[in-house]
Amino acid sequence: MHPIKKLDKLPPKREKVETLEILRQLSKSSKALGELKGIAQTMPNQAMLINAVVLQEAKDSSEIENIITTQDELYKALATKGKQPTQVKEVINYRKAIFAGHELLKKQGFLRLKDIEFLQKTIIENNAGIRTMAGTVLKNDKTEEIVYTPPQEKGEILDLLSNFLDHYNITQDNFPPLINLAILHYQFESIHPFYDGNGRTGRILNILYLIINELLDIPILYLSSYINENKSEYYRLLNTVNKTDEWEEYIIYILKAIEITSNRTIDKINSIKNLLSKTIIIAQKEEPKIYRKELVELLLFST
Ligand SMILES: Nc1ncnc2c1ncn2[C@@H]1O[C@H](COP(=O)(O)OP(=O)(O)O)[C@@H](O)[C@H]1O
Ligand SMILES: [Mg+2]
Repeated sequence: MHPIKKLDKLPPKREKVETLEILRQLSKSSKALGELKGIAQTMPNQAMLINAVVLQEAKDSSEIENIITTQDELYKALATKGKQPTQVKEVINYRKAIFAGHELLKKQGFLRLKDIEFLQKTIIENNAGIRTMAGTVLKNDKTEEIVYTPPQEKGEILDLLSNFLDHYNITQDNFPPLINLAILHYQFESIHPFYDGNGRTGRILNILYLIINELLDIPILYLSSYINENKSEYYRLLNTVNKTDEWEEYIIYILKAIEITSNRTIDKINSIKNLLSKTIIIAQKEEPKIYRKELVELLLFST
């Protein structure tokens, strides 16, 4: 048996989540994210930019749970309707959920429990909703060892979710928003409110949280590529907080993921910009002069 520690409500103790090391990493992560927000604003076509990064995230996030699909299969599935293999479909659904969540935020500026249920339902495509039956545990696939037992009772799950939402929707909370993002992500994964799709739903909540807090205008920062590359650390650190209440290493991990993926997205935007201007120059030289900037953008980035 592994020791079962009851999941605490938010917020955690300040001294556990605002250590010197965390604050040091926070300033690097905030700087990178601020640069990303700025450079994204200089892109003329925001929808194009979102499209260019969302599909990659949908693939990466689904891959964390080993739903492997190749990029080619994905683009094919977007282009052709009809029956698709389930794995591809899950990636497409994930992308759909990101867009739906973004639309909800534009409309109402916050999320309710039923919105989170809607996101998860979009990803998983079933109506099971919040767990009502006991028995869900997190297991190590290889060793079959139970690594974590989330709350089992529906009443407790709902109570923890309402506490989670109170903190998710407040933009002036106790802690700086990026620290809070890390805490909220841990909390959501540990409540583990659904039978399946908790990881993917939780990662979409991360993106939307950045938008609620005006750290980004559009959903273009995704931690999944980093988490994929450092997957066992991710699981190990979630587990450490489950068992010990020691937050430092876990929070630094998430902050670092924010710094690194922000920088990656900045590079990506810069290469999109270069590609655009090169293509426009080539198109301008062509006869007859059919060139229009929008046409070039359309050719390059429509999905
Ligand atoms: N020890 C842990 N404590 C809390 N959450 C965990 C732990 N280990 C893994 N997780 C989370 O659980 C997720 C997997 O849950 P699951 O419902 O299958 O989501 P999905 O189907 O989207 O992968 C992981 O992606 C991770 O975010
Ligand atoms: Mg799963």
